[in-house]
Amino acid sequence: MDPLTNPYTPNAGAQPTTLAGRNPQLDSFDLLLARLMRGRPQQSMIVTGLRGVGKTVLLGQFRKKALAANWVVAELEIRKHDDTEFRRMMASRMRTALLEISPKARWNERFQKAGRVLASFTLTADLTGTVQIGYAADATEPGKADHGDLALDLTDVFVAVGEAAADAGRGVVLLFDEIQFLAPAQLEALISAIHKVVQRSLPVTMVGAGLPLIAELVGDARSYAERLFQFPTIGDLDDRDAREALDGPAKIEGASFESDALELALQITGRYPYFLQELGYAVWGVASGTVITRGDVSDAEALYTAKLDESFFRVRFDRCTNRQKQYLRAMAELGPGKQKAQDVASVLKRESSQVAPIRAELIGMGLLYTPDYGYADFTVPHFESFMLRVMPDLEVIG
Ligand SMILES: Nc1ncnc2c1ncn2[C@@H]1O[C@H](COP(=O)(O)OP(=O)(O)O)[C@@H](O)[C@H]1O
Ligand SMILES: [Mg+2]
Repeated sequence: MDPLTNPYTPNAGAQPTTLAGRNPQLDSFDLLLARLMRGRPQQSMIVTGLRGVGKTVLLGQFRKKALAANWVVAELEIRKHDDTEFRRMMASRMRTALLEISPKARWNERFQKAGRVLASFTLTADLTGTVQIGYAADATEPGKADHGDLALDLTDVFVAVGEAAADAGRGVVLLFDEIQFLAPAQLEALISAIHKVVQRSLPVTMVGAGLPLIAELVGDARSYAERLFQFPTIGDLDDRDAREALDGPAKIEGASFESDALELALQITGRYPYFLQELGYAVWGVASGTVITRGDVSDAEALYTAKLDESFFRVRFDRCTNRQKQYLRAMAELGPGKQKAQDVASVLKRESSQVAPIRAELIGMGLLYTPDYGYADFTVPHFESFMLRVMPDLEVIG
């Protein structure tokens, strides 16, 4: 069919034509904002899931909802920031939020105070990290956000911004993507800052999304975090939603899938949102009529696999050293699902302790995560079958 009308969206963060199966999370978000606006406490959310399940898309939906409800949205894609960079990013987002609520010329005392607290916060960054910030020359608020302790300082910032926002009848929602890249101290600081604004019933909240290893990152702060946040996991879609994800976009363009075509498509993709988009896209190119058959899906499969191998899987594989690739290949040898560190080491004819550093590197890069103690799994669905395709022969680490 005409590539111009292809309704599928196989790109990171691309809002799908049909958003399937995420109503529970969307409803939770609505409730969160509505309750906070009434000064009622409500658990915020950290959404976790593998690559390609739709976390960034979900944050995009949250953003739309928040804006529609007249909240101020501050978005941040986390990378591995040191604390100085982290302070700077937080400060600039918070300052933008203040300015969005009210232009500086109209700032009342609460806003001016929040502005001074932000200046203190970034000035501390200057002292510790010599980062020059344009507004560091602003008046500071002595005794606020200048403790040199990230958690205390960030708490002062959140409270000051929250008080200003509440004064203006607005709320600020922080949407953080790739939250697994936060250093533990940064995540803990965020958690304690959120804790304080919740206690004070201030309209500031944070919703995060990231890879499953976040649950482990929270570590010590865990029980504390579990009272403040829900940790919904998103993953593959159920049967009905996966069908909807394929058939919905087709219908909009006046086409439809035969039922056994959908069945095959669900098998090939494992019902993962990104894979459904990629397969839908390939099928559209192959199909000749508006009724998409099982034969069309079957014809498109090779194209779909080639596309994934060249892009989605490949970019991750190419970032690895040879030893890391050998480790991943050994994992794939053991089949899909989580694998015991010891078993992977045996495949490599090594002791666990000898290959532990490689495993740790792969976890740090976000390629593996640890679903259970002593186990690791791929953060990318179907990665094990890719590894078997790209490295047919098992190699032992030399
Ligand atoms: N609920 C959904 N229904 C259909 N397609 C979706 C859904 N969520 C995400 N997608 C598609 O899946 C792909 C991956 O989404 P993305 O948000 O980038 O995943 P993640 O951030 O979890 O890696 C995109 O192509 C997007 O269009
Ligand atoms: Mg994402």
